[in-house]
This record gives sequence, C-alpha cells and structure tokens, in this order.
Amino acid sequence: MSDATTTQESAYQTDALIAEDIDAYLEKHQHKTLLRFITCGSVDDGKSTLIGRLLYDSKMIFEDQLAALEADSKKMGTQGQQIDFALLVDGLAAEREQGITIDVAYRFFATEKRKFIVADTPGHEQYTRNMVTGASTADLAVILIDARKGVLTQTRRHSYLAHLIGIRHLVLAVNKMDLIGYDQAKYDEIVADYTAFAESIGIKAFTPMPISGFMGDNITSLSENTPWFKGVPLIEFLETVEVDQVADQSKPFRMPVQWVNRPNLDFRGFSGLIASGVVKAGDSVRVLPSGKTSTVSRIVTLGADLDEAVAGQSVTICLADEVDCSRGDVLSVADAPPEVADQFESTIVWMADEEMLPGRPYWLKIGTQMVTATVQHPKYQVNVNTMEHLAAKTLELNAIGVANLTTDKPIIFEPYEANRYLGGFILIDKITNATVAAGMLHFALRRSANVHWQALDISRETHANLKNQKPAVLWFTGLSGAGKSTIANLVEKKLVRMNRHTFLLDGDNVRHGLNKDLGFTEADRVENIRRVGEVAKLMTDAGLIVLTAFISPFRQERQMVREMIAAGEFIEIHIDTPLADAESRDVKGLYKKARAGQLANFTGIDSPYEPPVNPEIRIDTTNMTAEEAADIIIERLIP
Ligand code: ADX
Repeated sequence: MSDATTTQESAYQTDALIAEDIDAYLEKHQHKTLLRFITCGSVDDGKSTLIGRLLYDSKMIFEDQLAALEADSKKMGTQGQQIDFALLVDGLAAEREQGITIDVAYRFFATEKRKFIVADTPGHEQYTRNMVTGASTADLAVILIDARKGVLTQTRRHSYLAHLIGIRHLVLAVNKMDLIGYDQAKYDEIVADYTAFAESIGIKAFTPMPISGFMGDNITSLSENTPWFKGVPLIEFLETVEVDQVADQSKPFRMPVQWVNRPNLDFRGFSGLIASGVVKAGDSVRVLPSGKTSTVSRIVTLGADLDEAVAGQSVTICLADEVDCSRGDVLSVADAPPEVADQFESTIVWMADEEMLPGRPYWLKIGTQMVTATVQHPKYQVNVNTMEHLAAKTLELNAIGVANLTTDKPIIFEPYEANRYLGGFILIDKITNATVAAGMLHFALRRSANVHWQALDISRETHANLKNQKPAVLWFTGLSGAGKSTIANLVEKKLVRMNRHTFLLDGDNVRHGLNKDLGFTEADRVENIRRVGEVAKLMTDAGLIVLTAFISPFRQERQMVREMIAAGEFIEIHIDTPLADAESRDVKGLYKKARAGQLANFTGIDSPYEPPVNPEIRIDTTNMTAEEAADIIIERLIP
C-alpha cells in the first residue's frame, strides 16, 4: 500500500482483505507492536461510546468479530460489511453491564499501525480489584471526564490506582465537549484542576485532550470545533506512544527462569520471558540468588538461534559454564544485578472476601518465584477517594494499604517502580489456592540485611544431649473444654516421672502474659499461635519436650508451626471431643455465655474450628478417661 493511499481507500482494502482472507489479515498484524490500555470512567462518562467510536471511526476491527463479519457478508452476498455505530455502542454497553460483576472485559483490535488490547473495567469503588487486575499489564490509561461534571471522586480514584499500578502514560480525555459548546475556558479549568490533583499524588505527566466520543471530535483527526487544541487526535496518540516493552529494553537485562531445558546431556538451556533489557551472545551474566557468573553461549528460539534478544521475548539461554540455576532463579546482566532480600515494605491491594490475616502464611508469587510470606499489620490504609492515610488493623476486600512483609527465604526483586516483573507479586491462600491480594514491593528493609543469625557454641544438640532426650513439641488442639489442658497436664506428669525435661504452654496462662494483648478475632488467634510456635521452637532448641494446649483452630497456622519446628519434632494431637459433649460439660460456663450472645467469636459457636486432617495422634474422648488418653499418648511417644 503506497503512502498516498487515502484512509478511505485503505479502509476499503482492509474490508476487502478481511472478506477474502482472514489468515492473511491476522498475519498482517503479527508484526505490529501491541499497546495495552485501560479505560477508566463510569458508563455515564461515555466509555462505551468512546470505545465504539475508536472502533468505528478508525476502522479498528475486533478480531473476534472477523469470523462473524465474514459469515454475514457471505450470507448477504456483500463485500465489506459495515458495522453500525449505534448498534456497536449498544452492544458494548450491554456486554459491559452483563460483565460488570464478573471481571475485566478485554477487547482486541487493530489499526493499520498497531494492535490494541483494551481492558474495560467497572468504575465503582467495589470493583477496585477489577481495575487493578485490568491495569496491571497496561501501558496506558485513558481517564474519561464528562466535561459537564469536571474532576470527580471517581476520576481521582482511577488516577490514583493507575499511578499506583505504575501505568506510564495517562490520557485525560475530557469527553462530551459538544455538550459544553467546545468551551475552551471550561476545558482549561478542568485540566488545571486535574493538574493540581495529579501533582499532589506524584503523577509527573499526563496528556489532556478535548474530545467527543459521540460526535467524533479529536478521535481520528483534529476537530474544527477545537481550533485552540494543539495536540494530536486520540488514535494517533495511541498509535505512536511508546509501549512499555520498548521502554523496558533500555533497563538492565533480567530474565526470571521459568524452566531448565535439558532434552539430553549435550544441551542445557534456561527458558523464560525476558523481563527487561537486551541480551547478546557473549554477554557476561549473573545467576541469582547464587551470584555465580558465566557467559551467554547461545540464545535459542523455536525458529533459530539469535544474536540478540530483547524485553518481551521468550527465549532459551545457554551458558558457557555448568553453573547451578533452576526455576525461580533470575539471569541478570553481571555488573548490575537485582537485590536479594526477605523483608520488605509493600503496598497491598486486598482482593478476597475474607479479610487479610496478619501473621498468616500465604504463598507469594513474584515472577517465577514462589515462597511463603507473612504480612504484618498494615502501617496504614489508603482511602482511595481522598488519598488520606487511615489507621488499619487489617485489610478488607478492595482495601489498599502499606505493610511490611517477610518471606521464608530470600527472593530476587527490584522495587516495583523500577521493574514491574520483579517488584509486583500476588498472594495466594495456601488451602483454597485463590489469589487474595496483589502487591508491589517498595524496598527491602534494612534490618533484613543487618540482622544476622548469630552462631552459638552451645548447640541445640548439646542441650538435648545434656538432658538425654530428643526434643519435641506435643501440639494439643481441639475445642474449648475438649480436655486439652487436662490431658496435656497428665502427659507432662508422666513424662517428668520418666525423667524427661518438659514444659507445658497452656492457652489460658499464656494469654495472661506474653499474649495478653490478644483477643479472639481470627487475626488475634493467628498471632497467638504464631507466637506460641516461636516460643515452642526456642524451647526445643533448649532441648525441652514442649506440650502446648491451645484451641489453635486453623489448619494453616498449625501447618505453619509444623514447618517451623525441626523435621519429626512436631506431633499434632487432636483431642477430638464433639461440640455437644464439650458444651454439655461447659466447665468454665463459656458456652452458656456464648449461646446467650454475651461472648462473641466463640469457637464452635460463631468462630470456626478446622479439625486436623492427618494428626499424628487422635484421641476420641467419648470412649475413654483423661488418664487413659494420657497413657495412649505416652505409649505412642515412647513405645
Ligand atoms: S486460640 O483459638 O487462640 O488457640 P486459646 O487456646 O489461646 O485460643 O484460648 C482459648 C481459651 O480462651 C478457651 O479455653 C477459653 O477458656 C478462653 N476463651 C475466651 N473467649 C473465648 C472465645 N471467644 N473462643 C474460644 N475460647 C475463648
């Protein structure tokens, strides 16, 4: 197609090409750059109309509509079926409404110059997580403003989120200009308002445009109605703005290793998606976290070897030396590697219906790395409408807060601002596997680098040998009134009679001292068990046999303690008393209070108990006395 071809002609050719050969059309798009963007604003702001206008005016075509179009044109015996603008907009709006509670609607289309994926997300505050999901991969955000209404709470919220997610390009589309008579003064006022707000939250640049989605002003070409506007039309901007993939190429080379490719003994390559930078054969690279260096010997792709590969490409890299490297490691340029740390400050967007539980272990997935992480109490929560910082004990659905977190082993990372791939993470519930949060790492806490493990001369073995025993934690779990304390107490007496060195940590007692600041909310119970686990662990280091009697109602925290304690030293004992029995005994009168509504969050009544699935020992108290139960436990421990 010659440069002289008019838009009209090229549009016609596009249509003809579609009708003739879909494969050729798709092939044609293969080599175009891809811009991902997100549109923000409610339906009232004219979002559907704008998207419809982009598609219609510029002859952008839904690729998933191609087949339908082709079928239609065949059926009707016409070439180059026209999409009706009004119908298209109605269709988009209907789709949006249906999808509103689901998630993010992604639309894929292309112009002559570029391919686009637009994420269309609902605007209300209760859909914050959807917007974050849609924005997480976007290069650009179009923030729509109704020119009659100016900057609204929703505009501020969307801008804040777009900025938080690190979207580099913001377009402020002042829409419905036709309805204010293309008034330049009003437009300038809105832009000035927005500028003040943008500066207050650290947005460095944005591109304002006066448009009308409905009339088509400043969409494909500059409008005669706004001769004072000196920018470029929206489509031209979208077609020419630098995409992240290109920008990422100027950053240092990093590739998280997805898998090690070893089809035979002669070939060993590390496969992954290049997150940033450029890599060439012969480059000196570093493998993290080990820090070992080597040289790139080959860059392999499906087709052929490459001399050079760039951000956004998936490749297999071979190294000149036999260095250790496995899934989750990161290949980096040798002289500017990313950091490695295990404690961070982060921003967290909570996405689950159940609130965040500080102290609970979650899976943290960052690039190809998967570790266990615990989040501390938030330092603050952000009011996404006013950007105010609020005090918060936890984060609920759609809440955004800043909190420190700790991982169980060091991870390779970069601040989110510098690199989305190595700074953005998700948190996953260990039992349900649901994604519960998305987050961004700010920086490593200095204490993680400055607090070292002090090697001690008297080892845990020495302590244990002196006591002539093998340390262990006998973890009693069960409902309140199940008999945990009674049975644990008897077991301890028997052990002491056998000259064992023991210590019994009992819930009611620990809650008088170390844990007197904790109540019975889920979050407090999680913290209760975390602390008791740490204390029990220290006591096993001192060589003791530790008995603990806590309801410890949640599987995840019992599992966390099991993982903290040395292998084989954690023995879970389920004192399995049916609720009805515990309640009928009601030694402390607490069940009665709970039933009367005088005691909230009572285990078994209005707070859950998750019985162990596979405990080392299960005691059915319905058919034995406490004395018999203790004997059974001793027998199992010391056969
Ligand atoms: S846990 O759930 O965090 O493991 P823990 O074992 O420390 O609980 O404490 C439970 C004891 O606290 C019970 O035996 C009971 O005496 C007392 N208690 C007071 N309020 C509650 C409550 N809401 N739920 C359960 N136990 C409670």
